[in-house]
Amino acid sequence: MRIFLTGCKGQLGRALIQVLAEETLAGCDLPELDITDREAIRRAILTFRPDVVVHAAAWTDVDGCAREPERAFRVNALGTQNVALACAEAGAAMLYISTNEVFDGTATEPYREWDPIHPINPYGRSKAAGEWFVSHLLTRFYIVRTAWLYAPGGRNFPHRILQLAEERGTLRVVTDEISNPTYAPDLALAIAALLRTNAYGIYHLTNSGYCSRYDFARAILRLVGREHILVEPITLDQFRRDSTPPRFAPLANTAAAALGIVLRPWEEALAEFLRGG
Ligand SMILES: NC(=O)c1ccc[n+]([C@@H]2O[C@H](COP(=O)([O-])OP(=O)(O)OC[C@H]3O[C@@H](n4cnc5c(N)ncnc54)[C@H](OP(=O)(O)O)[C@@H]3O)[C@@H](O)[C@H]2O)c1
Repeated sequence: MRIFLTGCKGQLGRALIQVLAEETLAGCDLPELDITDREAIRRAILTFRPDVVVHAAAWTDVDGCAREPERAFRVNALGTQNVALACAEAGAAMLYISTNEVFDGTATEPYREWDPIHPINPYGRSKAAGEWFVSHLLTRFYIVRTAWLYAPGGRNFPHRILQLAEERGTLRVVTDEISNPTYAPDLALAIAALLRTNAYGIYHLTNSGYCSRYDFARAILRLVGREHILVEPITLDQFRRDSTPPRFAPLANTAAAALGIVLRPWEEALAEFLRGG
């Protein structure tokens, strides 16, 4: 399979390069290629002639997106429109990586693939607009929603917790933001399996199980032998930040599970990550 990958230097992009090493791959990322440059991304995709484009590039700084919603829309929505238009012209399928933040977090059960989306912050709105472009400009597409990604070398929650534990010795972490911690190499394996199915549609792919940020932080510290570090439980109302995350937004994998694609429990993946991958 000829696969073109956007965001190839990011957490998921790097994991995908490893997992898809047997395929014929090309990739792009900043600063060499900006997906908001319609002609540049069009040329790159038409020249490579991929069977499928995996679109992982995004502006993933959720608080930055809240401060600069125009920029969030330009990169995450219009950038995705550019990729989708190029796929249409090249006759390529597209796999778009989306997020649990397209949901509002008022549910009482994990969100399923067919639940109505209702984003509540600029990042979620920009990613939802990306979903709209993909599903309206193409017929052969996968939308893969995921949550709370982490990978070696990335800007992510486990690294932040370990850094703060080192610097401060005590932590304050929210108990009322809940989702699925997801190890990017596990997601990459699931995406590789999904790409072989040609079963186009909407998918929820995360490590299985879910927890609060507080539980996630406690698990990280326990697994590195630092459970003595004090973690004060707080609520989102006590934690000032620019973006408003959905409170209860875990994803339930129904569609991929029907194809036999299921990720392992998040605790197992986290333990492997903290042992060094
Ligand atoms: N991280 C999460 O917790 C999470 C959760 C749910 C869904 N997702 C989605 O999963 C996907 C992969 O996330 P990730 O964690 O791998 O993100 P990441 O590590 O931030 O990687 C994204 C990559 O896209 C690049 N990029 C940003 N703007 C671009 C532009 N205009 N043109 C070209 N490339 C650009 C980034 O470059 P710079 O680093 O230079 O900006 C980065 O290398 C994203 O679509 C994200 O929305 C992520």
